[in-house]
Amino acid sequence: MKKLKLIVLISGRGSNLKAIVEQADPLIDLQLVISNRPQAEGLIWAHQKGIPTAVIDHSQYPNRDTFDQALQTKIDHCQPDLIALAGFMRILSPQFVSHYRGRLINIHPSLLPAFKGLHTHQRVLEAKQREHGATVHFVTEELDGGPIILQAKVPVLPEDTEEQLATRVLQQEHRIYPQAIHWFAEGKIQLRGNQVWIANQSITSLSS
Ligand code: GAR
Repeated sequence: MKKLKLIVLISGRGSNLKAIVEQADPLIDLQLVISNRPQAEGLIWAHQKGIPTAVIDHSQYPNRDTFDQALQTKIDHCQPDLIALAGFMRILSPQFVSHYRGRLINIHPSLLPAFKGLHTHQRVLEAKQREHGATVHFVTEELDGGPIILQAKVPVLPEDTEEQLATRVLQQEHRIYPQAIHWFAEGKIQLRGNQVWIANQSITSLSS
């Protein structure tokens, strides 16, 4: 089977990137890791692993459009099949997002559509939710609002600190993101219109 050409975009720690690399999926050819921050821990880790890396430092560009254009030029040079945002903490312009429609995915630390945006774990605790989790979704123009591919739930325990809850969610992120990318590589997931098409509906029942 033809390998999926993948680019991963990060901004920091890169634990989801590590989970993707460590699954050593024979269907995946990780072509490039791009970070907008030169000192990102995940970038240094990838470089040490011998994975091609690039920095597009947002602070070197006058505005979002010029940054996104530089990012797009870098990405298009590789002609990837899929771009995975993995803790990439920049908002992307509608032009960029529509250019990659159907091949741009993200992982978000909440059960979307609940708790879009930042500080999800803290907000879940403040709202006294009993369930929390993570979501893999296609990226569309609406921030954290694109069609959902896969979710994993975790319980919120009465004595949870933000850190404990974040750790529990992150364990699930490391499971569902490589899984979703694998299904994409198998051709089992596509964005059709504004909906996710899944080849075999039973694969959505993956639970924690
Ligand atoms: C992850 O929890 C990811 O879901 C979140 O950032 C963290 C990155 O961790 N992403 C977002 O909040 C995007 N809105 P990592 O760098 O260790 O993968």
